[in-house]
Amino acid sequence: MSTPLLEIKNLHVRVEDNEILKGVNLTLNRGEVHAIMGRNGSGKSTLSYVLAGKEDYEVTEGEILLDGENLLEMEADERAAAGVFLAFQYPIEIPGVATMTFLKAAMNAQRKARGEGELSTPDFMRAVKEAAGLLEIKQDMLKRPLNVGFSGGEKKRAEILQMALLAPKLCILDETDSGLDIDALKVVSEGVNKLRSPERSMLVITHYQRLLNYIVPDVVHVFSAGRVVETGDKSLALELEAKGYADFDESNAA
Ligand SMILES: Nc1ncnc2c1ncn2[C@@H]1O[C@H](COP(=O)(O)OP(=O)(O)OP(=O)(O)O)[C@@H](O)[C@H]1O
Ligand SMILES: [Mg+2]
Repeated sequence: MSTPLLEIKNLHVRVEDNEILKGVNLTLNRGEVHAIMGRNGSGKSTLSYVLAGKEDYEVTEGEILLDGENLLEMEADERAAAGVFLAFQYPIEIPGVATMTFLKAAMNAQRKARGEGELSTPDFMRAVKEAAGLLEIKQDMLKRPLNVGFSGGEKKRAEILQMALLAPKLCILDETDSGLDIDALKVVSEGVNKLRSPERSMLVITHYQRLLNYIVPDVVHVFSAGRVVETGDKSLALELEAKGYADFDESNAA
């Protein structure tokens, strides 16, 4: 067996003196799509932030390996260059920076960190046009400042556009489906599915089983009170939808 793309072992994380993650174990093999479902406040976004390298999270125990390397020793920009991408639950607005400019800067920063030269403008334009077309994002939106005044659904599409252009090897989608109408959900899911590849793994955080009809996961994890309490195949999501979280909370308490 080759090294898993991502290994999270007994991860404990504190935020401002509160222990939020309490021993997360999760292994993501190359090419796999795993879904994480769990109650509000169970720590899903915290896990995604810790993976992306956001500051203010104190890891008190455990480790995270990306391709066998210690991810926790890497700065956020090094992680991005190594191919970690987080599509935020609440995308950040960047006033004064056109989306197009932001995308080019992000792509070039990643290329630079990898020792590659800058993309030529025609190559960049071609890549953006293709990816934006797939996600049905209009060109005039790309001229507007990133996420400023974008509707909830437009922000989510813009996140997936960044993801498509950066071609990460670990994609973390934090509630990318929230705020999307039914048609947008299909468009965005198709965009995500096009990015599925044997070399790329995805962690898809969602509250809704419906998303998993479009982005069909290999593995589903139930998260409760800061850890993974149950792991199964896609039928686990249906079971959760039918029963709610109470049964799983009990197994957590046991
Ligand atoms: N900076 C902080 N200070 C104090 N508590 C925090 C901080 N950040 C997160 N928490 C707490 O950590 C817990 C986990 O939050 P997190 O955002 O990871 O939950 P979640 O599973 O993503 O929930 P949701 O499904 O609502 O998105 C919550 O109780 C939250 O209030
Ligand atoms: Mg969250």
